Amino acid sequence: GLTVVEVNRVHLPPFPIVENNINNYDKFHARGDDVWIVNWPKSGTHWMYEVIKLLMTGREELTDSIKEGTMFPEACAVESLEKLPSPRVLDTHVPLKLFPEEALKKSKIIYTLRNPKDAFVSAYYHMKNDRSVSYEGSWNGFFELSVDENTCLCGSWFDHVADWMEVLENNPNALVVKYEDMKRDLKKEVRRVAEFLGYTKSEEVYENVTKKCSFGHMKKAKKEPKCFWKPGGSMYRKGIVGDWKNHFTVAQNEKFNAIFNEKRNKLRVSVDFEL
Ligand code: A3P
Repeated sequence: GLTVVEVNRVHLPPFPIVENNINNYDKFHARGDDVWIVNWPKSGTHWMYEVIKLLMTGREELTDSIKEGTMFPEACAVESLEKLPSPRVLDTHVPLKLFPEEALKKSKIIYTLRNPKDAFVSAYYHMKNDRSVSYEGSWNGFFELSVDENTCLCGSWFDHVADWMEVLENNPNALVVKYEDMKRDLKKEVRRVAEFLGYTKSEEVYENVTKKCSFGHMKKAKKEPKCFWKPGGSMYRKGIVGDWKNHFTVAQNEKFNAIFNEKRNKLRVSVDFEL
């Protein structure tokens, strides 16, 4: 099995102290200039965070994760969120029903979407190597947990996407960015994000952000808290499209696609990734 924290029948990753902090959302004060990165886990959170931070601060270099890590309200103390200077960049993996309405009304939201097959594979390695989870099952076991809505992290990929898209589509305060598009043409997506957030910059700045946010540079330059991973673990594992092909069996692929085809109409977003 997988060590997870259950809130309102949703399984959340056992970030340090999710149990203590999930109620942060009841006490949470949204700000008009908050920027949220929302997604199902392993869909490009840290990547988007660096893009936004570079645009927002005008800095040349990536953030120091040891000093200013990504902030998940479901995983950190509410006081530390209140102390963050504006504009805050916050992350969350929670399904829509756990997200505060006030934030939905007044803050900006960037939803990152990734082929769930690749996200499942990425989540498998994360859960295996994360010291606080230490998933010891096989890929086959993890696949079964992920396609079952009762055991899937964050309450099923399909529901996560469908519920969020319903409130984000046609919302001028929201932008959907696809991981695969970032892989295809990062500069184009950097420019979209900049224009959406109101940080329109010169071509030179977009070039720099694109360079600094390449997988190679991030993997090399980002320091990760040592205590977080078992040896070999990293937030920057492979960073490719299609690694699922090295993991999904033919039967798993058929099972996944059957569910996908049954639910795809509910997703409200064009999904052009390879199935
Ligand atoms: P893989 O495990 O497939 O390599 P998150 O930040 O949401 O936890 O997502 C982590 C995934 O995003 C990992 O996927 C990681 O390698 C990938 N990623 C992080 N930075 C990236 C970058 N600059 N380019 C491409 N992929 C990146």
